Amino acid sequence: QPTYVRGVLIVNKKRPLPASYAPGENPTAGAAVRQLIADMQQAGLNISNSYSGYRSYSFQAQIYQGYVAAQGQTQADTFSARPGHSEHQAGLAFDLRYGNGTLVTGGAEAGWIASNAHNYGFIVRYQSGKEHITGYSPEPWHLRYIGEQATAIYQSGLTLEEYLSVSGGGY
Ligand code: DAL
Ligand code: ZN
Repeated sequence: QPTYVRGVLIVNKKRPLPASYAPGENPTAGAAVRQLIADMQQAGLNISNSYSGYRSYSFQAQIYQGYVAAQGQTQADTFSARPGHSEHQAGLAFDLRYGNGTLVTGGAEAGWIASNAHNYGFIVRYQSGKEHITGYSPEPWHLRYIGEQATAIYQSGLTLEEYLSVSGGGY
């Protein structure tokens, strides 16, 4: 039973998805991210056609367990969602990569994304200084598809949790 608030699906450390929730990539969101990537490339930015999008519950479990094994659970929880808690399982999140395959962390690419993603229906979900609300370290590469309300959220300067008045932070 996924949580919707004002029409927006909320997935965070407090609001999980059922393990059986497996919608695949949202087609509207997928088309929007491909358009965004094409426009970045047109603008001369170094961005890959290959993005990391939909992840099943079991794939997220595998990824998370790998980080826990390597770095411990406390550290893993700062940047990797436990299974059932990832927006990637909703088919609405996309991690953007430079041409060489590494995640977009800064430079002109991250700047363009921060300023323009809302025009494609996305928000940069995990921002610096908001870790206590989102539950995660900043991720300039992680886009969450919202749709039309993305611009209002962007202009508000609020996290999705604040904008929808829902709780976030830790588990
Ligand atoms: N890196 C984000 C928080 C995820 O695992 O969904
Ligand atoms: Zn992501």
